[in-house]
Amino acid sequence: MNVKAIAVMASGRGTNLEVILEAMQAGTCPVEVRLVISDKAEAPALAVAKAAGVSTLHLDPKAYADRAHYDAACADAIDSHDCRWIVLAGYMRILSAEFVRRFKGRIVNIHPSILPAFPGAHAVEEALHHGVKISGCTVHLVDEVLDGGPILAQAAVPVLDGDTRDSLHARIQAEEHRLYPATLARMASVGFRLDGRRVVWGGA
Ligand code: GRF
Repeated sequence: MNVKAIAVMASGRGTNLEVILEAMQAGTCPVEVRLVISDKAEAPALAVAKAAGVSTLHLDPKAYADRAHYDAACADAIDSHDCRWIVLAGYMRILSAEFVRRFKGRIVNIHPSILPAFPGAHAVEEALHHGVKISGCTVHLVDEVLDGGPILAQAAVPVLDGDTRDSLHARIQAEEHRLYPATLARMASVGFRLDGRRVVWGGA
């Protein structure tokens, strides 16, 4: 099987990165994480990558004139590592249109809601305040619309009466940790094509 080289971009704890690395090492996800990029020097995700022996790169946004220049530096690093897919795992910066176009159809994100409900950075709080009874997570391709690209996979969790932002997020993250490696594995092994916005599996 074709092992896909990937770059992971992460700003935070890196628990999704961790489960992807575990699945890679266990042989259940045919990807090779070649590079982990972070905009935050202190991101635990960088330590997770280093512990797994993966190359890391911290690029400070403040050192670049604007978003396009910052993203171009990230893109050059990704290309120099020959990565097929860019996997966003808690990457908290909005990508420039240039970056999205350069890697069209090759950027994947995980978002903590059932899209198209609650896009943006406060999905878990907004779902809770809205009073939905089901939430979950979505793995999707990234296009120029924030959290708006074609949907690869979704998983639902119940919202319980006593939930706080943290308890709901923890329940969603447990599903993320199952869904993200499984979806990347499916992308690598089964392949997919787009029919309009719809992801149709097969053809690898
Ligand atoms: C996840 O909840 C993901 O849905 C969102 O950011 C969070 C990242 O968590 N995009 P982690 O850093 O992988 O633990």
